[in-house]
Amino acid sequence: MTLNIELKRYPSISPAMGLSQASSNPSTPVEVKLDWRERFRNRIDRWMVSPQLYRLSVSTFFTRWYTQKRTREVFDLMAGFVHFQVLLNCLRLGVLARVQQSPCSLAELASHVGLPPDRLDRLVWSAVSLKLMDQRSGARYGIGPLGALVVSYPGIEAMVEHNALLYADMADTPQMLKSPEGVDNAQMHHYWPYTFGEQAKKRITPNPVLATGPHHELDAAQSSERYSQLMSVSQNFVIQEIIDNYDFMHHQCVLDIGCGLGRFASTLAQHHTGLELLLMDLPEVVKLTERSHVNTHYVSRMRFIPGSFKTDPIPSGADLVTLVRVAHDHCDADVQALLGKIHAGLPSGGRLLLAEPMADARGDRQDAYFHFYLMAMGEGRLRTPQKLSSMMQHAGFSRVELLSNPMPTHARILIAHKT
Ligand SMILES: C[S@@+](CC[C@H](N)C(=O)[O-])C[C@H]1O[C@@H](n2cnc3c(N)ncnc32)[C@H](O)[C@@H]1O
Repeated sequence: MTLNIELKRYPSISPAMGLSQASSNPSTPVEVKLDWRERFRNRIDRWMVSPQLYRLSVSTFFTRWYTQKRTREVFDLMAGFVHFQVLLNCLRLGVLARVQQSPCSLAELASHVGLPPDRLDRLVWSAVSLKLMDQRSGARYGIGPLGALVVSYPGIEAMVEHNALLYADMADTPQMLKSPEGVDNAQMHHYWPYTFGEQAKKRITPNPVLATGPHHELDAAQSSERYSQLMSVSQNFVIQEIIDNYDFMHHQCVLDIGCGLGRFASTLAQHHTGLELLLMDLPEVVKLTERSHVNTHYVSRMRFIPGSFKTDPIPSGADLVTLVRVAHDHCDADVQALLGKIHAGLPSGGRLLLAEPMADARGDRQDAYFHFYLMAMGEGRLRTPQKLSSMMQHAGFSRVELLSNPMPTHARILIAHKT
């Protein structure tokens, strides 16, 4: 099922859309007339913070649940950074891997990870409280429902380890919020060398945060390999969302821009035996991509194109262009230019498929993570489907559809049509 995006229904007022036009002079206070719903909401919000109402609400059976819910939500906001440390330590110490094999006692676990039981117990209880582990009979601990997910998918485990970088960067977010230069020393920015721009030649710094990481400087090839491996191992869920929700049957040739190691393209090649595939990425990455497919039975249907979409022409010949987790890494001007090039290179009737996590125009819980991740990375932005659709239409696409895929946490999918 698809939903046509009608831009009229999404006025350009949400800051998340990056299109705010509320006032041309931000320092001028604007007198805003509130409608009855907003007035009612404001009144409720004022009531909710009153200590008298709090006590009344807690003592009343019918309202207690709501006060409890709000209190937990605020507590979770405050505690999120500790939750991440619990997860990271459970993985690094091998606690989750051990209890996944079989439930065991605290003493057995302590001897396995080499920590005294009276230190490890805090981690174990925290992990139980976060559903990473759970309590079993006979004072044993087993893998919990969330822990089972984390250790069953290498992509999740790799992303948790990768997030240790973001965690370190989050210590200095005021600088990042103040100016673009605030990200100059961000670990996340240095992890993705293409975020330095075409001209800048910054040094790729070692990663002091990850105890398991190599403590030496990475050259361009090593750093491209590092991020490409991470992308490849974390791409499963995204690929699944795309191939389950879009029909590639009617296409002859697909150009995947920012293809990484080519997992998406190789999945397409295996599902659709008549499909030709063009794989474009930066030269250091394409070398690796080509190497990892050279001995496959479908390599004869693949063409590898080293180049930058910013400075090189986009290859022609495809009737579908795909951008998977690419646009959100780049600033509006670069994405707009890329969309224009893609539109110009497509034949009439051709399509663009853009898949990546997107912001909710009303704000969704997971948006905060991506907004800050992309800020630490450099110039990227989490955009709403409406903002991307508007950019696509500006580039010349006549119609844009938002697919209603079931797991938008992994990616939302837009299809732009060229008439
Ligand atoms: C976040 S990764 C996504 C990779 C893959 N599509 C996936 O979903 O796993 C972004 C990819 O875009 C590539 N990329 C970044 N800037 C590029 C440019 N100017 N031209 C071509 N590819 C670029 C990167 O090398 C990287 O492989």
